[in-house]
Amino acid sequence: MEPITLPENFFFGAAMSGPQTEGRWAEGGKLENLWDTWSIENIDDFYNKVGSYVGNDFMTMYEEDLRLLKEELGFTTFRTSIQWSRLLDRDGELNPAGVEWYHRLFAAAGEAGLEIFVNLYHFDMPTYLFRRGGWENREVVDAYENYARKAFAEFGQEVRYWFTFNEPTVEPEQRYQEGVWWPFIKNFNRARTVQYNISIAHAKGVQAFREAKSAGLVRDDARIGLINAFMPPYTKDDPSDADLEAVRMVDGINNRWWLDLVTKGELPADVVETLAERGCVLPVRPGDDAILARGTVDWLGCNYYQPTRVQAPSRDVDDTGCPVFADKYVWPDAVMNESRGWEVYPKGIYDFGMTAARDYPDLEWFVSENGMGIEGEYKNRDASGKVQDDYRIDFVRQHLTWIAKAIEDGANCVGYHYWGAIDNWSWNNAFKNRYGFIEVDLMENYRRVPKLSAAWMRQVATSHIVS
Ligand code: BG6
Repeated sequence: MEPITLPENFFFGAAMSGPQTEGRWAEGGKLENLWDTWSIENIDDFYNKVGSYVGNDFMTMYEEDLRLLKEELGFTTFRTSIQWSRLLDRDGELNPAGVEWYHRLFAAAGEAGLEIFVNLYHFDMPTYLFRRGGWENREVVDAYENYARKAFAEFGQEVRYWFTFNEPTVEPEQRYQEGVWWPFIKNFNRARTVQYNISIAHAKGVQAFREAKSAGLVRDDARIGLINAFMPPYTKDDPSDADLEAVRMVDGINNRWWLDLVTKGELPADVVETLAERGCVLPVRPGDDAILARGTVDWLGCNYYQPTRVQAPSRDVDDTGCPVFADKYVWPDAVMNESRGWEVYPKGIYDFGMTAARDYPDLEWFVSENGMGIEGEYKNRDASGKVQDDYRIDFVRQHLTWIAKAIEDGANCVGYHYWGAIDNWSWNNAFKNRYGFIEVDLMENYRRVPKLSAAWMRQVATSHIVS
């Protein structure tokens, strides 16, 4: 294969999140978030009974981790998230120990030569707010706005790249629609209420950022964005009109909803209209249009793991009386990552790039997560103890190759962050599937050990040549 070159100013880095790495879940005044509460209430729901408590022990190991990202992997940037439940107390005021930790982390990133990207929310609602109704309650949207304002004011001189949310599609889907995450609700319409209120929270967060910037609280060169999982939609090769309609709605709810919001400051009218026609009424308040109009961003993060494949639904309404817009379509040629049950389809990132270039030509974006989680990876250690993960090299190579082609064909993609560069805690899958270029050895005090792929990634990140 011919080596592929990515542009000189294309950046490489790592993506991670506070709740999946930090640990010390109950120290320093940290409040419980939904993961902590679920872990306390039913640890059997977590793989090997490993709850949220320790993350990958990042709060102990962060200096070593930053060095590994820079030196072993050749990265120049990395993303993590502030935990709302660590930064603020129950009254919505700053928690001094939380403030001190994030100042220390951001300073350490700078000292390590890494540009930090800070996300404000990664599926980690403080439990006391969830008990007041969570994202179904507009008061929680106001609480988020207060949190965002406090974060911008406190860290605005230290952080250049801010994001309001990671994957705002996921909590509506996992907690409210599919009911696979605590509190296990299965109600499509409630999921849309949550999605709508998160959209309002995002827009209020952007507005808070712009105001903080005008007031000189954040740096002049700071930027704000949103990160979402964009799953390009596909259906059968020879689709019926009903299959195409399923694509329209699934694409509309998961992708266009957020793309329209962050580029035009509005939600896609065709989607909102169809939802209403089918009895799904969004909790719109007077004045919301003006709020959403402020949700346009400076750039966007696209997490890409897998495509969506759908077909016409077999029924119009589900058991709860909610509309059904699509059924899953199993593509016979799909290549699967069996550990995670996710399809591996590298061309999907190219297709996203082409859609973005066509429909949102002014939008600058980067791949904010991409990665491969493998179960039982320790079995692939060689005699020296190094995991031989040539499959991960192949996975990243294929995705970077399609990204390079997308850029060549006009996509405005400016960087790549790998998810889980250092193995971390994956929600209720805990440490089942490992994503890292660096292994975390749970039997040896969270010791970090580079895998085979680490040196390959370093070579690519430092040369920009994908070989
Ligand atoms: C993304 C999330 O959806 O996928 C991460 O932003 C998550 O938080 C990653 O860890 C991989 O998924 P999982 O479920 O295997 O951890």
